[in-house]
Amino acid sequence: LNRTVEVYSEKQQITKVLSAFKDQKLSIGMVPTMGALHQGHLALVEKALKDNDKVVVSIFVNPTQFDNKDDLQKYPRTLERDVELLTGVSKEHILVYAPSVEDVYESKLEAEHFDYDGLEHEMEGRFRDGHFDGVGTIVKRLFIIVRPDNAYFGEKDFQQLQIVKKLVEKHNIHVNIVGCDIYREDSGLAMSSRNTRLKPEYLEAAPFIYKTLTVAKEYFGTKSAEEVTQWVENEFKSQQLLELEYFIIADVETLKTVTEKENNKQYRAFIAVYADDIRLIDNIALN
Ligand code: PAJ
Repeated sequence: LNRTVEVYSEKQQITKVLSAFKDQKLSIGMVPTMGALHQGHLALVEKALKDNDKVVVSIFVNPTQFDNKDDLQKYPRTLERDVELLTGVSKEHILVYAPSVEDVYESKLEAEHFDYDGLEHEMEGRFRDGHFDGVGTIVKRLFIIVRPDNAYFGEKDFQQLQIVKKLVEKHNIHVNIVGCDIYREDSGLAMSSRNTRLKPEYLEAAPFIYKTLTVAKEYFGTKSAEEVTQWVENEFKSQQLLELEYFIIADVETLKTVTEKENNKQYRAFIAVYADDIRLIDNIALN
């Protein structure tokens, strides 16, 4: 008796099932994750279920995208609970691919190097060395294994979303990349698997991040990017529990920091903050 979604730990098994689906002309959606699933992940899965006949959720904590060993070690791993959550969403239409490191990387645990036309040099690329080489390596491998028609990524990691779009364009991978809204706690804090590691006082302080973003958005109507940036940097000086790593207003296409606003361009504010030793990121559309 099949009481949960099907979980595959080996690529040979899941590709066999998927080719049968493809022979039946069923469409396949994919949601790549590192597990420790929360409502933000499930919103991506639900969107994928609306658009596709079958949805593959991959659950894999990808070692090559971590520049910090401690972060990798402490990354929450809750496969059983993840499977339960997904079973609650749709038992028949979801497949889980939860491979071992060996299944994905075989004997060579190394990132490939990628050129994303400069997107990799901004923000997260500056502060997390090699991060987007690791992300590109795993996402490309997952796409080759699953060959989805559509793949879903959250705007929570907006730079990652733009980089994945660039990756499939440059490597001619036939998959439609769909961006999804940021899912938040009632407090405004962007949902993240890392939030579960926040001690209570930090959890209480963290909603300040999104609150500041919403005010920054309001100010961006009348103030320059530089003025808004200075205001945000100053706001964080009075926060004892939160340490600002960066606040940047950038063009959504190039992710380059804006100096002069231009009428025909779209801008977003991006932020990275340390709460204790936990790094939190968020962003907001400005226009
Ligand atoms: P992970 O952090 O588990 O996130 C998986 C997907 O869920 C990403 O596309 C992310 O942007 C999205 N997501 C996370 N929190 C969200 C939120 N609050 N609202 C909306 N979407 C949210 O991102 C990764 O894993 C990895 O880098 C991965 C792409 C799987 C490659 O290893």
